[in-house]
Amino acid sequence: MVLSIALASLALAATSNAQFGIKHTQYETSPPVYPSPNITGIGGWEAALEKARGFLAELSLEEKSQMVTGTPGPCVGNLAPIPRLNFTGICLQDGPLSIRQSIYSSVFPAQLSVAASWDRKMTHARGLQIAEEFKGKGAHVILGPVVGGLGRTPYGGRNWEAFSPDAYLSGVLVEETIHGMQSTGVQACTKHFIGNEQEIMRNPTKVDGQTVEALSANIDDKTMHETYLWPFANALHAGTTSIMCSYQRINGSYGCQNSKTLNGILKQELGFEGWVVSDWMATHSGVASVEAGLDVNMPGGIAFTTDQPSYWGANLTTAVNNGTLDINRLDDMVLRIMTPYYLLNQDVDFPKVDGSTVPISFFSEKDWRFNFTLGETVDVRADHHKLIRELGAAGTVLLKNKNNTLPLKKPMNVGVFGNDAADLTAGQYSLGQYSLLAGGDYEIGTLPAGGGSGAGRYTYVVSPLEAIKARAQSYGALVQYVIDNKLLATGAAGVLQPALPDVCLIFLKTWATEGDDRTTLIADWNSTLVVEETAKYCPSTVVVLHGAAPNVLPWKDNENVTAIIAAHMPGQETGNSIVDILWGDVNPSGKLPYTIANNETDYDIGVVNSTELLASTDPNAWQDDFTEGNIIDYKEFDSKNKSVAYEFGFGLSYTTFELSNLEVQVAAANASRLPSSSAKILPGGNEELWQVLATVSVTLQNTGDVAGATVPQLYITLPAEAGETQNVRALRGFEKVHLEEGAEFKVEFQLMRRDLSYWDVNAQQWRLPASAISLDVGFSSRDLKLNGELTI
Ligand SMILES: *[C@@H]1O[C@H](CO)[C@@H](O)[C@H](O)[C@H]1NC(C)=O
Ligand SMILES: *[C@@H]1O[C@H](CO)[C@@H](O)[C@H](O)[C@H]1NC(C)=O
Ligand SMILES: *[C@@H]1O[C@H](CO)[C@@H](O)[C@H](O)[C@H]1NC(C)=O
Ligand SMILES: *[C@@H]1O[C@H](CO)[C@@H](O)[C@H](O)[C@H]1NC(C)=O
Ligand SMILES: *[C@@H]1O[C@H](CO)[C@@H](O)[C@H](O)[C@H]1NC(C)=O
Ligand SMILES: *[C@@H]1O[C@H](CO)[C@@H](O)[C@H](O)[C@H]1NC(C)=O
Ligand SMILES: *[C@@H]1O[C@H](CO)[C@@H](O)[C@H](O)[C@H]1NC(C)=O
Ligand SMILES: *[C@@H]1O[C@H](CO)[C@@H](O)[C@H](O)[C@H]1NC(C)=O
Ligand SMILES: *[C@@H]1O[C@H](CO)[C@@H](O)[C@H](O)[C@H]1NC(C)=O
Ligand SMILES: *[C@@H]1O[C@H](CO)[C@@H](O)[C@H](O)[C@H]1NC(C)=O
Ligand SMILES: *[C@@H]1O[C@H](CO)[C@@H](O)[C@H](O)[C@H]1NC(C)=O
Ligand SMILES: *[C@@H]1O[C@H](CO)[C@@H](O)[C@H](O)[C@H]1NC(C)=O
Repeated sequence: MVLSIALASLALAATSNAQFGIKHTQYETSPPVYPSPNITGIGGWEAALEKARGFLAELSLEEKSQMVTGTPGPCVGNLAPIPRLNFTGICLQDGPLSIRQSIYSSVFPAQLSVAASWDRKMTHARGLQIAEEFKGKGAHVILGPVVGGLGRTPYGGRNWEAFSPDAYLSGVLVEETIHGMQSTGVQACTKHFIGNEQEIMRNPTKVDGQTVEALSANIDDKTMHETYLWPFANALHAGTTSIMCSYQRINGSYGCQNSKTLNGILKQELGFEGWVVSDWMATHSGVASVEAGLDVNMPGGIAFTTDQPSYWGANLTTAVNNGTLDINRLDDMVLRIMTPYYLLNQDVDFPKVDGSTVPISFFSEKDWRFNFTLGETVDVRADHHKLIRELGAAGTVLLKNKNNTLPLKKPMNVGVFGNDAADLTAGQYSLGQYSLLAGGDYEIGTLPAGGGSGAGRYTYVVSPLEAIKARAQSYGALVQYVIDNKLLATGAAGVLQPALPDVCLIFLKTWATEGDDRTTLIADWNSTLVVEETAKYCPSTVVVLHGAAPNVLPWKDNENVTAIIAAHMPGQETGNSIVDILWGDVNPSGKLPYTIANNETDYDIGVVNSTELLASTDPNAWQDDFTEGNIIDYKEFDSKNKSVAYEFGFGLSYTTFELSNLEVQVAAANASRLPSSSAKILPGGNEELWQVLATVSVTLQNTGDVAGATVPQLYITLPAEAGETQNVRALRGFEKVHLEEGAEFKVEFQLMRRDLSYWDVNAQQWRLPASAISLDVGFSSRDLKLNGELTI
């Protein structure tokens, strides 16, 4: 069954491009943008830039080439120390939810869960606590957060590492994350720039001896700005000191040597002042990538234990000496690395790299070419388990709750089913992709996060079964469980008779990892049979989904499935987080950051992949035209009036809320249509784009009989002149609000110039529409309670 559905989705993916009649040639070249802009220090980096200039002045040409080229060392990425200058090097570590090459550190909820919480404060706190752990371990740079891939296709293998296919939601949350992270003095490296929307063929390969280039993500200028670039602009606005360029090509040119995206869009238009670092092994040239705007080549010379050319290192010294490369460019690269280092005071008392990292490192110690200073083993977890547990629950979305099945009212006989309920059985390291023995798509055991470089190494996991036993036994209830899905798929829940449970809790999981995309949107391990067979015995069945999302839910209308919960990837406290929701200690307030369709064939956008393509020796065979433009996820379903199972922004609560009293205040009537061309370009772009032009407010009331939180959401519809986005709503405001029963609160949504503009391709600027913008405020993208209009 799983196989035939996979083939159906592939057929869809293979035909989806052809139907638009687009010729790839229209994207085949990315326009050249040279030279690479210099750092200027504008926006508060001036003093740090002066210190960096002082450091640069001490360096020989060889040291400058060395500074920009990674080298084997204790971290996943290392810039070499220069003892003469008391510089101990720079340590870069994975990844977005945990310091991965580490012991005694925490595994936080994945960004997928963060997005489902829609909670700015917790997002900020998570960024801060993750960064504290990196700092404690001596890591200067966090390889995260992720806003690319954004989640264009629901099959994307790394979507869970990012927030949401909605650019606005991702933009707000990436800002909070970066502010939290960098407030500790650790650098954020926002990735992957840009268009890295599928894993298959993200890198070049060889077929019959012929090099076949990586997939080319062909993205038009309007879509680039309005969707994929949008959250990166937020990341720059928040001050991200570093950006990682992506593996695949954009309009035929590799992500780490595309002068239009790096020099043009990132460094000129968005005023990026920090450093661009290549994804690992994503540098495919020497001087060409340097001139295109790449500042640091990772991992540099030797990757894993195999000698691989980096193209850089001593080659850059030669290139400067023979006149091919302007020394000013190399100087700018060093300044872009060292300015953030001084800005965040990383030159003062920064902890040493934790020595316990060495045996679990990406590199073998025998390959080190420099003496790295190592510190003691430190436990950096502090009390972070508290936020992890809270955020895990906050990112849990209650989708269905027939007959108020939940919260549970002290059931005396609780059934627990499904392989996701159990403790881990294949080790505590879910890297998967690189080491199947260490984790991967293991059959029995819960799934608190996905695989690949964005994984974590758990010091412990509280499994759902363990947490449920503790909770139910605390008031003397019986807990019966079957966790083997093979048995459940054949009706094993019947073994419990005659003492049938009062409630059956079924735990399903969905694996996803870096390096591959999903082949189905149905939960793994015979999930459909497991639910249907178990529900036969259980008129009160609660299904909980962990792991990658979205999933389609073929059993959602089963009469006995009375509650459904999308619990995402909550991290190490996963069992406690779900028990808090099930027993009602925490009132669910998560909202879907993506759309759940009725059927996986309802989603228009698949991955580019086929047997024919995989066998092709055409170097340019792999092309992905983003012809749908901005119309992804809920915009796709809304533009076609297609019904869905659960829409973007949806999520139930144990209480009820009402909205009233929509008010619109325009701060600047008759504002100029374009931001002033004489305004400063600060990191994030023209400074006027971030000015508030209007405020929309509504009154929220908790009308139920328990306290709880919800998320009022503001959507705008731009008029026809904005182009293809007409008649499609776009999220432009949200606020998570907690209210006691009966309480009221005035919620304000501030709209900045960019929020109300569209990208004018001719003007190469954000333009405010001349006519009215429609406003809708509600509890989801389809549950819209209030509407109004705004003319700027
Ligand atoms: C890619 O090509 C499209 C179509 O010509 C163009 O609109 C867009 O600006 C190009 N983007 C890049 C980064 O080359
Ligand atoms: C960068 O600065 C150098 C040294 O001042 C100068 O020669 C070069 O023209 C500048 N490059 C750009 C693109 O402004
Ligand atoms: C390096 O540190 C030592 C000891 O603190 C100090 O004496 C020396 O001046 C420093 N050198 C530089 C180049 O900062
Ligand atoms: C210089 O580039 C060549 C490939 O062009 C590579 O073989 C060599 O290893 C590079 N040198 C260094 C020091 O990386
Ligand atoms: C200069 O050095 C670079 C790097 O080794 C090399 O690729 C290039 O061919 C050289 N150019 C000349 C004119 O020697
Ligand atoms: C590493 O330290 C040893 C011992 O102090 C010294 O001999 C060696 O030169 C150092 N290596 C480097 C690359 O600095
Ligand atoms: C739901 O509640 C109604 C009314 O109380 C009851 O008749 C029905 O049996 C309940 N259904 C389930 C599945 O519990
Ligand atoms: C890609 O296509 C190959 C060949 O048809 C198939 O085996 C594989 O499962 C596909 N992968 C995905 C993620 O669609
Ligand atoms: C699904 O269940 C069948 C038995 O009904 C079993 O043979 C098969 O291995 C199961 N598949 C998975 C993925 O668990
Ligand atoms: C629901 O449960 C009842 C037993 O309580 C059973 O008779 C019925 O067949 C079940 N329905 C489904 C669809 O499994
Ligand atoms: C999904 O749609 C396909 C094609 O219309 C259909 O064959 C399949 O049964 C549907 N699946 C579900 C779970 O409804
Ligand atoms: C969707 O529904 C709206 C309102 O019912 C209607 O105006 C519009 O034409 C419909 N769009 C499509 C694509 O069917």
